[in-house]
Amino acid sequence: MRAAFATRFDDANPLAALTVGERPEPTHPADDWVTVQVRASSLNHHDLWSLRGVGLRAEQLPMILGCDAVAVDPDGNEVVVYPVVATPGDPRGVSILSEHFPGTLAERVAVPRSNLLALPAGLTATDAACLPTAWLTAWRMLTTKGRVDEADAVLVQGAGGGVATAAVALAAAMGKRVYATSRDAAKRERIAELGATAVEPGARLPERVDVVIETVGAATFDHSLKSAAPMARIVVSGATAGHEPKVNLRRVFAMQLEILGTSMGTPDELAALLAFCAERSVRPVVDTVVPFSRVADAFARLHSGDVFGKVVVDHTA
Ligand SMILES: NC(=O)c1ccc[n+]([C@@H]2O[C@H](COP(=O)([O-])OP(=O)(O)OC[C@H]3O[C@@H](n4cnc5c(N)ncnc54)[C@H](OP(=O)(O)O)[C@@H]3O)[C@@H](O)[C@H]2O)c1
Repeated sequence: MRAAFATRFDDANPLAALTVGERPEPTHPADDWVTVQVRASSLNHHDLWSLRGVGLRAEQLPMILGCDAVAVDPDGNEVVVYPVVATPGDPRGVSILSEHFPGTLAERVAVPRSNLLALPAGLTATDAACLPTAWLTAWRMLTTKGRVDEADAVLVQGAGGGVATAAVALAAAMGKRVYATSRDAAKRERIAELGATAVEPGARLPERVDVVIETVGAATFDHSLKSAAPMARIVVSGATAGHEPKVNLRRVFAMQLEILGTSMGTPDELAALLAFCAERSVRPVVDTVVPFSRVADAFARLHSGDVFGKVVVDHTA
């Protein structure tokens, strides 16, 4: 079957480590696994990290990339694939598809049957393929970790990313006052259209916020601390611009801030997110939809840093 996979690592030029070609059909590590036919997938920064060699070891190569998928199950139902799989031996106890088990950027992928959720009516395959990783992460950051129901104002750093655009769209749909930073004037304009007050990185906000959504890291963390109201939650799920920021601990204890790490979400959180999007007509922010025949272009687009929202791959085209 056709697939997009890492054959080596290249930290400087991850695109050079990508191969698009043939891979063997999926195998089942246990009896409760099934093979599903992928209809749509979407890229995440995770896929670029994998090509750089972050989170994968050389002996795991070749590894099919991709965490997200909407697929057709063996009974003909359209399903959303929950990408987190129990993985004994991994220190986290779990892994995301494309880490230990082959990913979704293929004609078919094998997953435990319990990882399949029904595609809600009203959501297209290409829209729903954006939700299981970046949007699920943003949903958990806001709800379970950030306790956004107790919040009035939310700051989202690095407005162009998949997680960040999700957080802005979701927080705005929840009726919160949302601030978002971006280095790019055009992205600031677009994030404002999603309901955020857009500012330059580091700008003083008109008010302190109760929840900060951090995926940028070193470049924005000091601003996140300075923008936080007393008792605020700074929720971290990524560090695209550096994972070792300087942290002013005086501000952390004086303002009684909570700095919370999070990764992905639970199947129940994904079900809640799917229902929220379907019922509230919230749709993912899609940068581009690329046919699988041009999947390398999709990687180049993500790598360019110019994306606004999700890069989706249509496996039916
Ligand atoms: N833990 C999880 O479960 C999970 C799930 C999904 C993603 N993640 C992580 O979250 C991070 C975000 O991923 P993503 O795919 O949503 O987006 P991304 O492509 O990594 O981009 C995030 C944003 O970071 C900003 N940025 C990048 N470099 C910067 C720099 N040097 N200075 C200031 N800002 C910079 C950019 O904002 P502007 O251009 O607008 O300034 C960009 O839009 C990644 O590190 C990813 O691995 C984690």
